[in-house]
Amino acid sequence: MPIYQTSTFVQEAPGVNKGYDYARSGNPTRATLEQLIAGLEKGSTGIAFGSGLAAIDAIVKLLQSGDEILAVDDIYGGAFRLFTNVYEKFGIKVNYVDTTDVANLVNAITPNTKLIWLETPTNPTLKISDIAAIAKLAKANRCLLCVDNTFASPVLQQPLALGADIVIHSATKYLGGHSDLIAGLVVTKEKELGDKIKYIQNACGAILAPFDSWLVIRGIETLHLRVKQHCASAQIVAEFLEQHPAVARVFYPGLPSHPNHAIAKKQAKGFGGIVSFTLKEDTEEAAVAFVTSTQLFKLAESLGGIKSLVSHPANMTHKSIPAAKRRAAGVSDSLVRLSIGLEEAEDLVNDLSLALEKTSQVIRQTTITVHQ
Ligand SMILES: Cc1ncc(COP(=O)(O)O)c(C=O)c1O
Repeated sequence: MPIYQTSTFVQEAPGVNKGYDYARSGNPTRATLEQLIAGLEKGSTGIAFGSGLAAIDAIVKLLQSGDEILAVDDIYGGAFRLFTNVYEKFGIKVNYVDTTDVANLVNAITPNTKLIWLETPTNPTLKISDIAAIAKLAKANRCLLCVDNTFASPVLQQPLALGADIVIHSATKYLGGHSDLIAGLVVTKEKELGDKIKYIQNACGAILAPFDSWLVIRGIETLHLRVKQHCASAQIVAEFLEQHPAVARVFYPGLPSHPNHAIAKKQAKGFGGIVSFTLKEDTEEAAVAFVTSTQLFKLAESLGGIKSLVSHPANMTHKSIPAAKRRAAGVSDSLVRLSIGLEEAEDLVNDLSLALEKTSQVIRQTTITVHQ
């Protein structure tokens, strides 16, 4: 697909053109990506945005003052910030519940709930919600169900086929796959809803540029192979961490010990490339010692790229969530999130093993100093 690096298109006569007039409204490179993601997610309409958050923002703009969103409690920090700090002042209320139990949604839904917002798996505790059951609840209450499918990608999970109305992606992650762009994608099941979101996009302007559209298309060409390897290595890493004496708890849906393992197995083709864990020494200091001790895992925001990354959500992605709320959602002070890249799994395990050893040394030294 060529990169149509152009803002405007020559017209044969006023209003007579080859389908494009101005690149905010449509661009052939972006349109190719939009058709590609709509096909992968089994939807009717794809829309490419300048970031994942711009995609989320366009969905919220479907709502009106007085409407309510019922959202997963372990939500991506940026979505929490947008809902709370930007949209609450426009009269949109957000209720957060643990969506792994459908009963919690049944109890929290009100006649004003117009949108249910799921991430599954969640970021960073990898909770899994039953998309099909929640889609039934959304339909019965005439509200939209939007699933952030960033962590699973359409290779592993297709929420629209399970009854959701909208899927969004931070294409910055697995779809792009190389940590070299920021992009967001929306896919709707129905064309009518897709047209509404396209209208919002054109009115507000948060489009994806032609070159970045081309990069996402290129990334998607290897998505199925990358995701397969991410999943295989993540399983090995999760099993290693689960038996390590310094580790308190491992969050990975592929482990039988994960509370939502059964539903993960049922609704997805694999368990993804993200593994989180907490340390027995549940302090920010211990987590910081760990994330600054790895060699292959680079300390950075983001995930889903070919290179492994490590992050400390309490200090990074989830910093904008108040500490008490963050802890209540399971993101404890020592929680570390790993994005498993395409390096050899054995090398990744060795890197983690050495970093855990170094962390234990730092903890021992701190304890000795305190006692002196
Ligand atoms: C699950 C999830 N959704 C949405 C976003 C926002 O995407 P972007 O950073 O592309 O705006 C992120 C970013 O980390 C994310 O992890």
